[in-house]
Amino acid sequence: MVVTDNPQTPQEKVPFDLPAYLQQRQSQIEAALDRAIPIAYPEKIYEAMRYSLLAGGKRLRPILCLATCELAGGTTEMAIPTACALEMIHTMSLIHDDLPAMDNDDYRRGMLTNHKVYGEDIAILAGDGLLAYAFEYVAAKTKNVPAQRVLQVISRLGRAVGAAGLVGGQVVDLESEGKADVSIDTLNFIHNHKTAALLEACVACGAILAGAPEADLQRLTRYAQNIGLAFQIVDDILDITATQEELGKTAGKDLQAQKATYPSIWGLEESQRQARQLVQAAIAELDSFGEKALPLQAIAEFITSRTH
Ligand code: FPP
Ligand code: MG
Repeated sequence: MVVTDNPQTPQEKVPFDLPAYLQQRQSQIEAALDRAIPIAYPEKIYEAMRYSLLAGGKRLRPILCLATCELAGGTTEMAIPTACALEMIHTMSLIHDDLPAMDNDDYRRGMLTNHKVYGEDIAILAGDGLLAYAFEYVAAKTKNVPAQRVLQVISRLGRAVGAAGLVGGQVVDLESEGKADVSIDTLNFIHNHKTAALLEACVACGAILAGAPEADLQRLTRYAQNIGLAFQIVDDILDITATQEELGKTAGKDLQAQKATYPSIWGLEESQRQARQLVQAAIAELDSFGEKALPLQAIAEFITSRTH
């Protein structure tokens, strides 16, 4: 998607300590994830699920869910099971993405990939286990939220994961590999589904849990769609510019796999410009929320400045 320049009036910038915010949220989420899946019999599968789920990562998806729930007047407690479920879904998608049948990757989050440690069979099952548990977890653990909202969240998660979301994006991604003539529309389809759909679900679920009015839900959804695509453009840029140590996964993979990327179509500079514009468009959607939206605003800005 090409966004037109959006001239903004310079505004007084309210300071917000994003690193402190992220750190506080990350430790909250780490603890919740650790509690969510204790080891049980058969130990091997729980260990494999925990291996990838607790391997660190930015935890951006659960943080977005918590931040949006709070922006819309809800509490952390209302959103924490959904936030954990979103990270379980994200993790399972990466376990499957790294499999030999897909991207055949050896490293993820600075560690060996799940199938390298546990074997392909267990890695597939660990992904399946995490996906199923994510839905169970939302249904069983969400407290102090009307059942109708929980149902909406479950439906939204299902849509983000299935053929209308991650799965559909991954299919077109796999089909496009090695093709020299991938159009920008196809690339946008891939990433709107593979990356932006789940980020959108994070924000939408946070808003739904808090009972946000429809107009706010729409604004927040547009915010998420914009940061989702910006996030992917930056991912493509980092695949070229960052090192394996910075990324915690193999660098330069897109070129190696002959994948169409934003930099391969637009070049690096234009890709950076497009990412910045999408972030600006995302931030513009937050105008009506005032200072309550500072975390979401800072997260959007972080997307274009991140190094991994
Ligand atoms: C990473 O992309 C992969 C994803 C964002 C998701 C891929 C989706 C699937 C494997 C479908 C999973 C199945 C379900 C049921 C959700 P990338 O390969 O471009 O990035 P990377 O460099 O981090 O691997
Ligand atoms: Mg991959």
